[in-house]
Amino acid sequence: MTPAFFTIRSFDDVDSTNQVAKLAAEAGEPEGLVIRAKSQSRGVGRQGRAWFSPEGNLYLSVLLRPACALPQAGHYSFAASMAVFDAIADVHHDTKLSLKWPNDLLIDEAKVSGVLLEVGSADQRNVDWIVIGVGINVEKKPEEGVSYPVTSLHAQGALCTVDDVQKAFLQHLHHWYLTLKHDGFDPVRRAWLSDAHRGPMVIRLPTGEIHGNFAGLGPDGGLILRLADGSEKVIHAGDVSLM
Ligand code: BTN
Repeated sequence: MTPAFFTIRSFDDVDSTNQVAKLAAEAGEPEGLVIRAKSQSRGVGRQGRAWFSPEGNLYLSVLLRPACALPQAGHYSFAASMAVFDAIADVHHDTKLSLKWPNDLLIDEAKVSGVLLEVGSADQRNVDWIVIGVGINVEKKPEEGVSYPVTSLHAQGALCTVDDVQKAFLQHLHHWYLTLKHDGFDPVRRAWLSDAHRGPMVIRLPTGEIHGNFAGLGPDGGLILRLADGSEKVIHAGDVSLM
């Protein structure tokens, strides 16, 4: 059962469920609103990239109002990645899932899902609203236009429907949201770390590339990387590729 906390508003096609949810947030809608669409004409990914959004996959955005300070807002994207992880583990057993910083879910190192967090704040200090957008490739995956391995749940042999995945995701999101609100980031961080993809990786920044080994997740959600000289560097923004 989907927790009563959520009010689901379903559409056939929208430009972007995040866009619809942000307008609802600015119009004062209460938290728990879920905007879901069968397809998106202008789905948005991280770093302003387009998100492949044909019918057959899950596209939804959840409005939350956690009353936290702005620096904590990013924690909610990790709660969302844990909910995606748990939902996919529910609908597709026997699979090798891992999390790639910050919020990608991988099956056998191919991306099946992404999370886009957007935050509104009137005073630059406290959060007014958070919109968590989640895209999960259920039936379809992009065949071109992406520079990393991608997959879908059906390509992996899962027989689930979009509705199955949505239900499982919202149940787990409710759990991780309450955990974060009541117990803080540490339990979310520990869960994320236990399922994180480890090993060598390259981070692409506007200023160039950094190579290193995964060394952890900081209390602020930053990626801790061990460099070749043994020092550690914390990354707060950038694109991670596995090596
Ligand atoms: C990423 O680049 O990994 C994040 C992808 C987030 C895509 C989802 S699909 C539902 C919601 N609406 C959007 O336009 N984007 C997010």
